[in-house]
Amino acid sequence: MRLKDKVAIVTGAGGGLGEGICLCLAREGAHVVVSDVNAAAAEKVAVKIREAGSKTIVVKTDVRVARECKELADTTVKEMGKVDILVCNAGVSGFVHRRESMEPPILETISEEDWSLTIDVNLKGTFLCNQAVVPYFKEQKSGKIVNISSIGGRKGVDFIPHYCASKAGVILFTQAIALQLAPYNVNANTVCPGLIWTPMWEEAAHVLALSYPAFKGLTPDQVFEGAVQNMIPLRRPQMPEDIGNAVVFLASDEAKQITGQALNVDGGAVFN
Ligand SMILES: NC(=O)c1ccc[n+]([C@@H]2O[C@H](COP(=O)([O-])OP(=O)(O)OC[C@H]3O[C@@H](n4cnc5c(N)ncnc54)[C@H](O)[C@@H]3O)[C@@H](O)[C@H]2O)c1
Repeated sequence: MRLKDKVAIVTGAGGGLGEGICLCLAREGAHVVVSDVNAAAAEKVAVKIREAGSKTIVVKTDVRVARECKELADTTVKEMGKVDILVCNAGVSGFVHRRESMEPPILETISEEDWSLTIDVNLKGTFLCNQAVVPYFKEQKSGKIVNISSIGGRKGVDFIPHYCASKAGVILFTQAIALQLAPYNVNANTVCPGLIWTPMWEEAAHVLALSYPAFKGLTPDQVFEGAVQNMIPLRRPQMPEDIGNAVVFLASDEAKQITGQALNVDGGAVFN
C-alpha cells in the first residue's frame, strides 16, 4: 500500500479516467475526495471506493468557479483532516457545443462557446484547483500535484486546436508551479493520456463520424478503433487503470525526485 492513509482529491471523478484514478488511489490505501460537477455520478464512484475499504466524501464542484474550488479544498481538510494529493482531471472534449453539427471541425467552425468552455474547464479549472489546495501544501511542507493533460497537449491534433491549446497550457503551467513549489517540498507533474474509450471519446467520435470527411459513415467505436490503429504504435487503447497507475506512482514516495515532468501514457503515440 504505497499511499496508506494519504488523502487525495480527484476532480472530474464521476466517470471515465477519474473513476479509474480514484480506484487505483484507494487500492493503494488512500482516502479519496470524489469531486465532480455531476454529483450523482460522483456518488456512484464513492460507493466503489467504500467497497474497496477507503474513506471517501463527495464534494460537488464546478472547477470553473474559484469559490467552489476553495470550498473543495477547505471541506477536504475539515472532513478528512488534511490533503496530501491533488489530481486535476476534470475536462471537456472541445465538442460540447457542436454535438449534432455536420460541419467539418475546421478552425472556422469552432465556436467561441466551445473555445471558452474548453479553456475554462481544462486550463482555468486546473489553475483554480491548484490555487485552492496549494496553501495547505505549503503550510505542511509536503504535497503531490498531478494535473491531467493529453497527447493533444504534446502534439497538435488537427480537429481540436482549442483542446490542444488547453492541454499544452496545463503542461507549462505545471512546470512553472513545480519551480515555485519546490522549496516547499511539493511535487507537481502532468500525466498525458493517449486514447481511452470514455464518455468524452464517445462524444468526440460521434461528432467526427457526422462531420469529418475521413470518418463519415463509421460508427463511433469504429472511429475510435481507427484512431487507435493510426496513432498508437502499440496498437491498443489505454485503460483508465493505466492512467491511475501512473498517478499512483507520481503521488507516491517512489517519485519524490520527479517534479515538473509530463509523463506520456499513450502506447508510444508521442515521444516528446
Ligand atoms: N479519454 C481520453 O482518451 C483522454 C485522453 C487524453 C486526456 N484525457 C483527459 O482525461 C480527463 C478525463 O477525461 P475522460 O475521458 O474521463 O472524460 P469524461 O467526459 O468521461 O469525464 C470527465 C469528467 O469531468 C467532469 N466535468 C466536466 N466539466 C466539469 C466541470 N466544469 N467541473 C467539474 N467537473 C467537470 C464530467 O462531469 C466528467 O465526470 C480530461 O481532462 C481529458 O481531457 C482523456
